[in-house]
Order: sequence, then structure tokens, then C-alpha cells
Amino acid sequence: MSAAETSICVSVLCIYVLRATPPSRVFGHLAHAKEPSLEIMPNGDTQTRPIGSSIILTCKPNVDDTKLIKDMQWIDPQDRVIESLNTPGHSKPPMYTELLQDNSLSLFFNSLQEQQAGKYTCKATYANSIQLQKSVTIDTIVAITWDNAPPNQYPILGEDYAIQCKVRARPSPSVDWLYNGELIKTNDHYIIDTYALKIKNVQESDDGIYTCRAYVLTTGELKERPIRVEVHIRPTVEELSSPVDVIEGEDASIQCKAHGKPPPKFTWVKSLTHQNLSNADGFGVDSDTGVLTITNVNREDAGEYQCTATNLAGQANTNIRVNVIVKPKIMEFLNSSVVQDKEASLVCKAFGRPPPQVTFRKLTNDQPYAKGAQLDDDRIILTNSADDITGETVGRLTISESLRSNDGLYECIAENAGGEARRNGHLTVEFPPSFASMPNTSVWSWEQKPVNISCIAESIPNATIRWTVHGDQRIDNDNMIKQLGNGPLSTLMIVPLDKRYYTTYKCIASNAHGTRERNIELREATKPGEVLQAKMAEITATTIRFDLVPPSTNPELPVRTITVQYKEEGQTWMQARNKTWTVDSFYVLEGLKPQTSYEFRFAARNEVGLGNWGAYHQEITPVRTFPNEPKIITPTGEYDLSRFNTRYELAWLAPADNGEPIDMYRVKYCQIKRVSGDWQLLDDTCRAEDVKTQGRLRHWLKNLSSNTYYKVELMAHNAMGFSKPGSAKFKTAMESTDLNLDYNIVTSAGDIDTTVVHHQGPLVSSAAIIGIVIAVLFIIIIVIDVVCCCAHKTGIIYYVCERSRRKPVDEEDTKLGRDEKEPLKEEKKITPIIDSGLRRETSITFDGKRSVSKTGFVGKDSAV
Ligand SMILES: *[C@@H]1O[C@H](CO)[C@@H](O)[C@H](O)[C@H]1NC(C)=O
Ligand SMILES: *[C@@H]1O[C@H](CO)[C@@H](O)[C@H](O)[C@H]1NC(C)=O
Ligand SMILES: *[C@@H]1O[C@H](CO)[C@@H](O)[C@H](O)[C@H]1NC(C)=O
Ligand SMILES: *[C@@H]1O[C@H](CO)[C@@H](O)[C@H](O)[C@H]1NC(C)=O
Repeated sequence: MSAAETSICVSVLCIYVLRATPPSRVFGHLAHAKEPSLEIMPNGDTQTRPIGSSIILTCKPNVDDTKLIKDMQWIDPQDRVIESLNTPGHSKPPMYTELLQDNSLSLFFNSLQEQQAGKYTCKATYANSIQLQKSVTIDTIVAITWDNAPPNQYPILGEDYAIQCKVRARPSPSVDWLYNGELIKTNDHYIIDTYALKIKNVQESDDGIYTCRAYVLTTGELKERPIRVEVHIRPTVEELSSPVDVIEGEDASIQCKAHGKPPPKFTWVKSLTHQNLSNADGFGVDSDTGVLTITNVNREDAGEYQCTATNLAGQANTNIRVNVIVKPKIMEFLNSSVVQDKEASLVCKAFGRPPPQVTFRKLTNDQPYAKGAQLDDDRIILTNSADDITGETVGRLTISESLRSNDGLYECIAENAGGEARRNGHLTVEFPPSFASMPNTSVWSWEQKPVNISCIAESIPNATIRWTVHGDQRIDNDNMIKQLGNGPLSTLMIVPLDKRYYTTYKCIASNAHGTRERNIELREATKPGEVLQAKMAEITATTIRFDLVPPSTNPELPVRTITVQYKEEGQTWMQARNKTWTVDSFYVLEGLKPQTSYEFRFAARNEVGLGNWGAYHQEITPVRTFPNEPKIITPTGEYDLSRFNTRYELAWLAPADNGEPIDMYRVKYCQIKRVSGDWQLLDDTCRAEDVKTQGRLRHWLKNLSSNTYYKVELMAHNAMGFSKPGSAKFKTAMESTDLNLDYNIVTSAGDIDTTVVHHQGPLVSSAAIIGIVIAVLFIIIIVIDVVCCCAHKTGIIYYVCERSRRKPVDEEDTKLGRDEKEPLKEEKKITPIIDSGLRRETSITFDGKRSVSKTGFVGKDSAV
């Protein structure tokens, strides 16, 4: 209480005194001398104050003359005199006195302490003889105070725990507990103790906010203390049942797994050295995840490690064995060699931890050999012998009765958990010389032509070669024979000046495993003899075909070509023309004049040269006449089947024109029907069409009846008249199989034949779609053609350009019956003759009876 308050209090008290005392007494009192006494303000025998508060108690002498007051003192409960504050300084004692001007003595409590409670007495002496004294009792109140009640407490799972809540107060308090708002009663799980709430066998479910509630009945004071309880769990470490493998030279990481609450922190220690690995060289520890990383593992890192997991609740550890795996290394794999039929052995030594498995693979095979004898070849056996202590494995591949095919490169493969190593080695299978790669035993020469006789001896090791001639004669001193090389390849360069050189040469090859000989004959070659026989096989006004019997020759010097010379009667052989055929082709001459007498003679040619002329023959070409019968192309069988129900495409081979060019074809076709096995012509159905386009060999017959048999006859026409008709039968398709579409059918070089089959009913829309598809295809074709023109110089556009540049030449070329100055092959393709996207192939074929000129088409055909 401050001095001002005290004075207010004093004045209030005075008013009270004035009111309560009858006026007579007051006046009487003032009139008489005062009874000396001491007064303590504030008055009251007991002062109850909370601790920590500051108090001033003032002892005031109630006497007539305050100057007569002496030895005024305050005595504490222990009867000690309370000192006055004579040194006004910074540190004030817990209590002190101060003399006021009116001789009152004040007792100050800075901050009232519990132990300062008690009876305080003020004493004084008045007028040297009267002892005055007055007492007051100070009673302290202690407010509720949390002496030991931490707001966060961590019991450990499975253990008993006392949640601390030590409360102090005066008068003494009562305490009870709330858990999540509900009052806790003592039971199996909880025991409410004076200073704590005991929990038996703490569970995780005991987590939560506990409220420690304290109250003092007399003062009505109530205080609550929330205590957050979080159950901690001691760490448990997962034990690893097996050792951890790490690979030498690589980085490894090992994880230690532990559970606990809060999540534990990890440390790693190498058991042998007790070295903490958290800051050791080459190691790294992640204390949060428990991962131990080892950079660039080396062999010394093998051993036992201890992982410790620690949290607030405790710690746990485990020992982990670490094995260091050493990748395999091949220490030795030597080349090896063996003589054919003996036992070969390849040995490969490899090291690793654990000792590696060693196997072998022939480089030409995909699969390595299996342990033991091979299933497909029990001559080959693979064995391993491993030594766990040294880490070495010796792999051995033995091949009994080795073959030449066992020669080659082998790969030794050593494998263990850390990886694999490979190395190549060679197995050489040695064998005596052999001449297996020499097919011929004779060599030909003629007219002193230099010739090489070669001898190749296969062998391992390489063979040396020497030559002998005429029995055992060496050939060192002959200028016309030169030896190049002496093994494994040796060549004799011979200039056969005379007959003596046409003889047998002996090649003698030898190596450590044997000697072999091979005879090679040098033979003198000659030109072929005369053609044995020439017979006319077939003749027309402009062509002739022969049957020829070539001369017989040695198979090593076959006849390659036969040449014919031919002249008109009256000309000399100097003026003769000629043509050369390859042997066994069709011996056809074209471009003869009709009704002319020709003489022919023949000669055969081989490597040496052209033989003599022989097999003279004379023939008169027939007169110009109507063309030969054209041959309609049909598949074999009685009749062809049209793919369409109203149309049929007729195709044929051009016949020989017999001296006058064919100017048109006449097609006649009639319906036929089968009457008791015979075909009967329905005369009134016959139609005829002329095909006048030059060189055209295809024609669409249109507006046919579906599912009907037709007979078609085709005649070729030239200035001399019509040929005999070629004929064929076909049948049109059933109505339903025809597609009701528009067709743009390109039927021959240069022109477009359009057949329109009208739309019928509901197919209009699909027809339109297909029409679009066709248009798109057509654009694609044009694009491709442009690309071809630019990139490959082919295609329609290219041809059109080229044609406009070289038109005369092309037309000359395509004519049949031109001068034949080069051999005509069986099928002479004149390409490219390209028109409208089609390539026309022209060839002459003989069907046995007559010469027919055939023109076919390849390329985009008519069908869509
Ligand atoms: C083994 O043979 C291979 C191939 O023939 C060869 O390249 C290599 O140098 C040889 N190695 C030894 C050690 O002779
Ligand atoms: C013979 O062999 C030599 C050397 O290889 C070569 O120069 C020569 O042209 C060959 N002679 C004949 C006729 O093949
Ligand atoms: C064996 O002959 C071959 C072919 O002429 C040659 O490449 C090889 O070097 C020779 N080997 C030896 C060992 O002379
Ligand atoms: C064939 O005729 C050509 C010229 O037309 C001539 O150069 C050639 O020597 C002749 N061939 C034969 C084998 O007569």
C-alpha cells in the first residue's frame, strides 16, 4: 500500500472515529491528557496479504508529545529487531524500517515472502519510563502456483508414468485431472496422486491433452494447467538376417531401419575399431534415414557394423555384417594349340570374391558352354575348380579328338555376384596341308598365252610349297616358269612356248604335321570345231528359226556363243550380215525380206576364239501373206472367267505379220451354250469390233450379258488380208459379283478406254466415296511420278519429256523387223517404253509352231 493510500485510509478511519464516538467523549478526551499508546496502521490485529505483495505497516505513537518517544522499534516474529534502511541503495532487504517525520516508524515489506508470516511487534519508550508496545500478525496467502507441471510430458509406451503436476497454494489446494475434457477417476489405468497422475502401462492412445485443475476451497481460487502428453516409443531396429553384399570399387549404401516415436536418429559405428562413421573418410551417415553410404568400397570395408537408433525414449542397436564382393578378374587365359584329333584344353584363371564361375564361349556361338559334357557334343567338357580362400577359380575346357572346326577365338567368362569379366583367347587346331579349296586340276592355255597355275594349301601352321615337273624334276632353271610364293599360296607363271610346257605340274605342300601333293595339268586349248548341224525349224516371210547342234568340246572350255552370217543369193560373204546368239537360246533371225533366197553359215565361239564357219544352209523366205493366227491369252482350261458381269478384257500375242505390217485386229464374239456336251453358237448374238490402234494387244468387250458363255474369235489383218482366227471361250460373272462403279480403264499405250456402268440404286454414296479415293490415288500417282521424274529419271512425265526430245529414235526402235546387229536374247525387253503409266514389254516368243510377236503390259492394270 502506498503512502497516499495509507493517508486516505487514515483520514477515513478518523471520520469513522469521529462518527462513532459521542461528542462528549471526544471533547472529554481532548480535554484530558492522553493515555500514551501505539497505533499500527492499517489497524487490525491480523493483516492477510498475498505473498509477493509490498506492505507498509506504520507504527504511530499516540501520545501528547511525540518528542518524548524513544527507542521505537519493530520486532520480527523471531524477536529480532528489524533494521532500518540506513544505506539507501539498490538492494533493499526483504524488510526494513523507516522513521517518519512525526516519529512514526514504518515497516516495509518489499515483496512479502511466505516465511515472513508471523507476529510483528512495535515497541517504544515514552517519557523515559513508559513502555509502549503494539503487535500485528501478518498472514500470507499463497496463490495457486505450478511448482512442477511441465506443459509437455512424454511417457514411454508400455511403461508406467506419472504426469507431474505439483501445485502449491495457501491454504492448501485440491487437485483433480481432466483428460480431453472429462474428469479422470482413479481406476485400473489411472491413479491420482498428490502431485501426479499415474498411468499404468502407457499406450499410444494415452496421447492427448491432460488438464491439471487446482482449486482452493476457502479462497475460491481455481487454476487449470493443460499438459500435452505425447507417448514416446523406444526405438526398435530391424535386424538383418543375412550379411549385406557390397561391391568393391563401387559405392554402396546400407540402410538401418528402426521405428520409434519420435523418429529415431541413427549413428553407425564400425564394430572392430569403434570408429564413429558419421564423419569418417569415405563414409556418410544420414542420421535421419539411417543410410550408411560407403564410397568406393574397398576390401577392408568388410566386417561388422553397428547401427544405433536413438530417440528421447531410448536407443536400440543392431549389428550388420558387410561382405565385400570383388568383381571377377581374369588373371590368365592363354592361347593354346593342339594337333587335329588330339585333346585340346583351354585354361582360364579368374579371381573374385566369392570365387567366380568360369565358362567359355566360342565367339561364333551365342551361348556359352554348360558345366560338364555338352549335350550336343560330348567331346567338349567344362570344369571349374574354385578356391574359397584364395578366391581363385580355374576353368578348363577340354576338347577330346579336336576337329578343325574347333579352331577359333574363345571367350572366357568369369561371373560372380559383383559382375563379370571376359577375355578372348585363341585355340589353334593344327593340321597337315589340304587342297580342299582348289577345285580345278587342269589349267588351259593356248597360243603361248601366259598362264598362272596356283596351288593353295590349307594348313596350320602354314605349309611351304615346292613344285616339280616331269616326275621329280625341279623347275628352278627355266626362264619361262616363274614361281611366286612358297606357301601357303604359290603360283607358277608359265609362258608355254612349246608343247613341253603342256604337262603335269606337281604341287608339294608340307608342314610339321605332314606332306601332301597335288597334280595340276596345263592343257592346250583350241577353238571349237564347226557347228555340227543347222536345220530350219520355222520360217515366215521375214523370220527364220534354226535348230542348231553346236560342236562338242571339253566341259572346261564350253561353247559360249554361236554366230550366224547370212547373205542374199548373189552377195559375197564379205557383204554378209551377222547375228550372235548365246548357246541354247532360240536361234531366231528377224528382219528378212520376203520371198528372198538366203544363205546362212554358222560358227561357234569359246574362250579361245571363233571356230571355223560351217553348216552352210540355204532357204527361201515365203511370199508376203496375211499375218499368222493371233494367239489369245487365256488361262489353261476350257474357258476363262471374267471378273465382271458385263465386260471381258481380251488380250493376245501379236502374230508374225508375214511381210506386211498388221494394221488392225477384228474381234468377233457370240454367245454360246452347251447342248449335251457340245457348244452351240447363238448366231443372233454375234457382234464384231475392229481394233485399229497400232500395236494394241488388249481390248474390252462390253455390254455383255452376265453369267453367259461367249466364244471370241480374233483375226489379224495386214495389206494381204485377214489371218486365220484365233479363238477362245469365256464366261461372264454373276450379276452380284460385279461392282457398280465407274471405271477408268487404261487399256493400251496412249489412249483411255472408258466403260461406264451406270449406278444402280443405293450404292450411289459408296460409289462417290470410292470415286474420291480413286481421285486421291490418282493425285498420289502424279506426285510419285513427279518425284520419280526428278529423282530417278523415270515415270510418265520424264518419259513424255524424253519422248518429245527423241521421238524419231524411239519410233525407229520399236518397229519390228529392224536390222539385227546384236544377239537377240530369248526375251528381249525393250524398256522403257512408257505411256500413260504403263510399261510395254515387247518380246518375241516361239510357241513351237509359229513365230509370234508378243506385246504385254505391266504396270497399273485396268482393274480398280
Ligand atoms: C592369342 O591369339 C590372339 C589371336 O590369334 C592374338 O591376337 C593374341 O595376341 C594371342 N595372345 C597371346 C598371349 O599369344
Ligand atoms: C599371274 O599372276 C600375277 C601375279 O599375281 C599377275 O600379275 C598376272 O597378271 C597373272 N597372269 C595371268 C595370266 O593371270
Ligand atoms: C599364313 O598364311 C597366311 C595367308 O598367306 C598369312 O596371312 C599368315 O600371316 C601366315 N601365317 C604365318 C604364321 O606365317
Ligand atoms: C558382224 O558384223 C559386224 C558389222 O556388221 C562386224 O563388225 C563383225 O565383225 C561381224 N562379226 C562376225 C563374226 O563376222
